[in-house]
Amino acid sequence: MAALTSLLVVLPLSLLICALVKYSLPWVTYAQWGAKHGEIISFNFYGNRVVVLNSERTADDLLERRSRIYSDRPRLSTRFMTGWDFLFSFEHYGNEWRLIRRLFQQSFREQKVPDYQPVQLKSARHLVMNMIDAPAESVWNLLGLCTSSAILTTVYGYNVNGLGDPFFHITDKTLSTAMPLLIPEKSMIVDTLPFVKYLPTFLPGTSIVREASEARQWAKQFTDIPFNFTLDNIQSDQAFTCVLADTIRHSTESGQSFPANRIKKFVSTAFVGGADTSSSVLQSLVLAMVFDPTVQERAQADLEAVVGMARLPAFEDRKSLPYIDAIIREAMRAMSRDPHRYPDPEAFRPERFLTKEGTLNGDDVRWSFGWGRRICPGRYSAFNAIWAAAATMLFAYRFEKAKDENGVPIDITPEWTCALVSAPDSLVSLSQPAEGGSCPHSSKVRQSHIGATV
Ligand code: HEM
Repeated sequence: MAALTSLLVVLPLSLLICALVKYSLPWVTYAQWGAKHGEIISFNFYGNRVVVLNSERTADDLLERRSRIYSDRPRLSTRFMTGWDFLFSFEHYGNEWRLIRRLFQQSFREQKVPDYQPVQLKSARHLVMNMIDAPAESVWNLLGLCTSSAILTTVYGYNVNGLGDPFFHITDKTLSTAMPLLIPEKSMIVDTLPFVKYLPTFLPGTSIVREASEARQWAKQFTDIPFNFTLDNIQSDQAFTCVLADTIRHSTESGQSFPANRIKKFVSTAFVGGADTSSSVLQSLVLAMVFDPTVQERAQADLEAVVGMARLPAFEDRKSLPYIDAIIREAMRAMSRDPHRYPDPEAFRPERFLTKEGTLNGDDVRWSFGWGRRICPGRYSAFNAIWAAAATMLFAYRFEKAKDENGVPIDITPEWTCALVSAPDSLVSLSQPAEGGSCPHSSKVRQSHIGATV
């Protein structure tokens, strides 16, 4: 009875909150509430207490310094409805989490990730090849293809073959069907009203059940098919190497013999962790280039000076190209609108990350990877993958607004998708590095060179 009474009280309140929280942009609502009510705000949402930390300082205080008590994760119903129970980032804080976290540490620690750079560079070079004559509609897909293929090769040893690749199709569908359902604001509807799961799906308000069912079918294929691909290859080729193959061998040799289910959680999350997150950063970066051509020109001038005409950028050039890293940090910083930490937060200013001498300063936007014990274990690998793609793209193309059939540039109002990983949703196009244009190299040289070096 008490439970029913509280549900009756909570529901109207929650519905009011739901009306107030803009579903498509919940973070904007939270920032507005934060500005009005303080750095920590808390509200009741479908019977759940939600606490929003609206500043880096409070996140540091609670999630870093008190990580012993603030490292758990809530139970999201949609994680199970979509078949995403493999997702380690939502694992409760306990032994299972510790064991899998150790696998991440083994394979993605700072000293290990240089092993993955050749694959990351190769994917970046395929990206610029695929971009030749790419229509504006496919630019975002190609960025997704680049980050997904780098991580599919790293983790499963699988080489993706273009946008039509069957593994890429499965991973793409897995991400696009589940991501929008995995945000707490969506899950809480079913967390609080679990009977919704059992309603016939033709009834209004049950779209979440239909969408989750589709996501579940893709998730099953995603967790099994690449995993079995690697198992088959390990059996037929003793030298076959990738994160999964190395983990299985290490597990057997050390006598630990991890259950397949745990290893699947590890590799499936490694893919999910690295795919959409990194392509979302690249999309933001490309969009920023379109809005601020001077940043793009400076990046290209630096690339020209350091890399020259005879080859494509490589990791060895990175130290001499601090502005490219500053652009990447600024694209990631765009998640923070804190004017105390980053004055004039709406402006895209890579210089925030440079010293007077032009070297990188100490702000490596570490906060964008989370805090405390749950900090992203893939952060070192992520920076490398993003660097490879950003440097190679900026070397090869100039980004600009897409044009309509009359050649008139289409205005962009950046819209952001609302999902577990948010990304911009706009049309941009690439200009081939035209001869005599503001891009320094001739398209012929660059294209033939790209073709020769992939
Ligand atoms: C630009 C790229 C990336 C960004 C922005 C990013 C960001 C994040 C954030 C914000 C978290 C949540 C931390 C928390 O709960 O406090 C996280 C967790 C996680 N990330 Fe990443 N990530 C990226 C790339 C990667 C990559 C490449 C991998 C794969 C190796 C990865 C694997 C994970 C895992 C496994 C977790 C869960 C950690 C845990 O709960 O203990 N991420 N990431």
